[in-house]
Amino acid sequence: MYKLVPNFPLKHHNSFGLDVSASYWLTIESTEDWNSAIAQYPHLLQEKRLIVGAGTNLLFMRDFDGLVISPDFFGYSIAYQDDQIVELEVGAGVEWDDLVAHCVKNGWFGVENLSLIPGKVGAAPVQNIGAYGVEVADVIVKVNCLNLENTEFKSFNNDQCHFNYRTSIFKEKYLNQLMVTTVVFRLQKQGKIFTGYGDLEKSVRELGVPSLENVRRAVILTRESKLPDPKVLGNAGSFFKNPVVTEEVAAALEDLLSGLPVYQLIDGFVKVGAGFLIEQAGWKGRKLGHAAVHDMQALVLVNRGGASGQEILALSQAIQLDVLEKYGVKLEPEVQLVEG
Ligand code: EPU
Repeated sequence: MYKLVPNFPLKHHNSFGLDVSASYWLTIESTEDWNSAIAQYPHLLQEKRLIVGAGTNLLFMRDFDGLVISPDFFGYSIAYQDDQIVELEVGAGVEWDDLVAHCVKNGWFGVENLSLIPGKVGAAPVQNIGAYGVEVADVIVKVNCLNLENTEFKSFNNDQCHFNYRTSIFKEKYLNQLMVTTVVFRLQKQGKIFTGYGDLEKSVRELGVPSLENVRRAVILTRESKLPDPKVLGNAGSFFKNPVVTEEVAAALEDLLSGLPVYQLIDGFVKVGAGFLIEQAGWKGRKLGHAAVHDMQALVLVNRGGASGQEILALSQAIQLDVLEKYGVKLEPEVQLVEG
């Protein structure tokens, strides 16, 4: 059954905790629900549209004058398995970390490094979530979607998703048009853990054997030590992407800033640590109105309580300008700005 609510408060549906509302909120549990809702309320098709998971990567500029859709598709089913792999189809509305816990409990490798990322399964392919050396694109076989404009189904294999660093075809070409219904993940039964990122190997060793469970525990401990819990302090994880620059630019920056984290990409490009740049520019822990830069991770902007989206945006723009002036690097937001 679908549920349509007018004038819906979004405070508990955006992890910045911004006090905004939507003209309409629609919860659907199946594609038939969407068909029924638009048959009964055809004007919904004319409304501006926003599909939300848990709202953990959104920055609302003001009240949303349109339709917000929450796809509550639940459940897990095994689409295929053999001695080596299992292909698991998961509903878009499942909490991401419940999926990770489920896989680790069953001894399936592939998503353990992505433990404790806030949000829902449906959003994972949209922004190609990633952490500790793994991206969800590495384990996705298929993304099933409903086209909200013509009610057609469409299935995308991994190549067709055009995955890239924190983006995909669903975020670029089809944002708020294609709604992810289920995602099929390929997990390994005899997999290997990956602890090559930062201090992860050391953190795992401190917990004991290098097992799937210990990778999950180590990632959870690391995240909890650096990233603020959105239930306590509103935030949307990394506010900016780590910028991609040429090897020459990266080398010049490394001369200027010793210790700059750099990650070599293909084709002569290098990703550099935005958090490091922001910290070096003196922004870590700084406050601007009700917004602030987190004091443990400079890539994370927080709502100190009662902030507006405009205030958080103003802080982000001040940081962008300063980093551009000091280091010549343009920071791009990772969070999705939502105009009203
Ligand atoms: N660093 C600083 N100062 C800071 C923050 C980071 O010096 O204030 C340094 C750290 O010391 C470390 C390096 O920068 O050497 C990398 O830091 P970290 O491991 O915290 O990762 P990140 O590059 O800042 C990215 C992702 C995170 C993900 C972590 C771990 C992006 C935009 N962010 O952050 O993802 O959890 O790696 O893999 O790629 C998110 O997307 O919302 C997110 C939290």
